[in-house]
Amino acid sequence: MTASNGRAGHGVAIYPGSFDPLTMGHMDVIGRAAAIFERVVVGVMVNPQKREPLFTLDERKAMIAAAIDDAGLANVDVTDFRGLLADFVRAQHVDVIVKGLRVVSDFENEMSTALMNRSLSGVDTVFMPSDPRYSFISSSMIKEVFFLGGTIDEYVPLAVLRIMRDKRNALR
Ligand code: PNS
Repeated sequence: MTASNGRAGHGVAIYPGSFDPLTMGHMDVIGRAAAIFERVVVGVMVNPQKREPLFTLDERKAMIAAAIDDAGLANVDVTDFRGLLADFVRAQHVDVIVKGLRVVSDFENEMSTALMNRSLSGVDTVFMPSDPRYSFISSSMIKEVFFLGGTIDEYVPLAVLRIMRDKRNALR
């Protein structure tokens, strides 16, 4: 099969997001994508539209780089992008966008986003069903539980937990 950019095979995938912070749900998708694609780029959005991120861009990139390293994922790297994902995908010759789907309600927004991204860039989106162990977690829930004193150890990589503890100490 030939991809929309004319190249065959399982080339470069981008996994875009805010990653504020990276969770085990994200890591599960990254690991599974790394087993399918030659290279996976974790694309950290510089200014998430939703709200001001808790973690700076450098903190988010550092936690992702450390978690990738700890997981031994040699074909995964992290970068940042600003503006339209479609523009980044075209400029960087990315073959496919990877998105995780946790629950059915994720699908509605992700479906229209995927169609818009394909219309703008010609690049398709591949959806990966979330591991049921992580289907109920989100970055915002992780932050709320952590900062209200709950235990999140099984929901974030160790490298993320360390950075979250530093952040909590800095905010005290
Ligand atoms: O982790 P998130 O916050 O769910 O990630 C959302 C993200 C960054 C993937 C999405 O907001 C995005 O792709 N933003 C880039 C801007 C863009 O291309 N918008 C048009 C999409 S139709």
